[in-house]
Amino acid sequence: MSDRLFIFDTTLRDGEQVPGCQLNTVEKIQVAKALEQLGVDVIEAGFPVSSPGDFNSVIEISKAVTWPTVCALTRAVKKDIDVAVEALQYAKHKRIHTGIGTSDYHIKYKFNSTRDEIIERGVEAVKYAKKFVEDVEFYCEDAGRTDNEYLARVVEAVIKAGATVVNIPDTTGYCLPQEYFEKIKYLKENVSNIDKAIISTHCHNDLGMATANTLSGVMAGARQVEVTVNGIGERAGNTSLEEIAMILKCHKGLNIDTNINTTKIYPISRMVSSLMNMPVQPNKAIVGRNAFAHSSGIHQDGVLKNVQTYEIIDPKDVGIDDSSIVLTARSGRAALKYRLNTNGVDVDEEKLDSIYQKFLQLADQKKEVTDADILMLAGADTAETHAIKLDFLQVTSGKGVQNVASIGLDISGEKFEAAASGNGPVDAAIKALKKIITKQMTLKEFTIQAISKGSDDVGKVHMQVEYNGSVYYGFGANTDIVTASVEAYIDCINKFKKK
Ligand code: KIV
Ligand code: ZN
Repeated sequence: MSDRLFIFDTTLRDGEQVPGCQLNTVEKIQVAKALEQLGVDVIEAGFPVSSPGDFNSVIEISKAVTWPTVCALTRAVKKDIDVAVEALQYAKHKRIHTGIGTSDYHIKYKFNSTRDEIIERGVEAVKYAKKFVEDVEFYCEDAGRTDNEYLARVVEAVIKAGATVVNIPDTTGYCLPQEYFEKIKYLKENVSNIDKAIISTHCHNDLGMATANTLSGVMAGARQVEVTVNGIGERAGNTSLEEIAMILKCHKGLNIDTNINTTKIYPISRMVSSLMNMPVQPNKAIVGRNAFAHSSGIHQDGVLKNVQTYEIIDPKDVGIDDSSIVLTARSGRAALKYRLNTNGVDVDEEKLDSIYQKFLQLADQKKEVTDADILMLAGADTAETHAIKLDFLQVTSGKGVQNVASIGLDISGEKFEAAASGNGPVDAAIKALKKIITKQMTLKEFTIQAISKGSDDVGKVHMQVEYNGSVYYGFGANTDIVTASVEAYIDCINKFKKK
């Protein structure tokens, strides 16, 4: 019989910590429900004490999902645990994830403490959390750089205090796969009560070894893996869920099963990428745009003769449908809805109608509307609810002429207009906008990206604007790059209004 590996998803906690990836509660619920459909065992829904937004998301996710365990992160601090308990009140299955740094770097520089005192604090936190919930996971932060003998003492003490899962994070992504294997093996062999808890991996990707390390941990006996969709997370990210799920599916000889329905992998990858405005690199394993594209003549010839010559995964197994319905100006609502669904976007009839109108306009400008385009349209549709909307924008620019822009804004139903010149069309448009919205804001970052290729392509703009000491992230997409830039700017301003 094969062994069961538990999948602990931390897209909504470690993944969401990435600057620019923040989701609102409605979006988090959407991702949580998709994670439930995907079949993850545990959803780490947030760090409730860190902000009212995180607290609220843990509450709402707890209400929204049924069978996965909902987990809340805390430091080894009573106040954090109290807040997490309150946030988890509606969860059908709940877990508190508490812990503390155990490497000498953390003990000395972060806590100015001693090894014995750190064990005491960890034990106290577990005992305190156990008063409220049965399922308590303990993380030994920076376990990757913690000496194994001391790590074993910590793990033994927290299991004795009641921890049901012990998490061994390679927080800095430093370990080599063999080293991480030895670490987990050491714990299996030297912690007397290790059979009373599940060992969990939590690997970061700073040296590109997160997946290899996670797999090594599993080979050594870990039975829970902490992962994120598309491998997003702090710095270079976490272990990617789709890679671990597909490695175990492809290598049946490992005899380890998960509960993941792999056909849901591609839709959730698209959903997370579009909601978090976080593009997936084209050559990303399993979910990248090129993951199943064979471009060299030799490969194409082989694949045409027998697909197994160069393909180890059937794209359908991860939810990529080869017979994609191509969207053109003649496509109907049903085709659009189908494509939205395969990209992880669920819409009701009213929303479908509004996206469809925009789709028809775009299809008039482009020969073929791609998945990226319709995700952009679905995202742009949510901007309809913003208080400030772009009514019109007219720009004169080019060689030998002055760059001038006139802009019209609708602010909660009231109309405003202004004009300005600048040293480029975007500069002119933003200066005109700043005549209407006179807040002291500074543009910190501005990136333009074409979604696919071709001169009729949609351009995506990401912006960071600083206002009142905080940085806000905005997004705009349009076939006209100046309009996309102004929309991204307005998206940032709409966010300061919500804070
Ligand atoms: O990387 C890490 O150590 C973490 C812990 C908080 C679990 O994310
Ligand atoms: Zn982490």
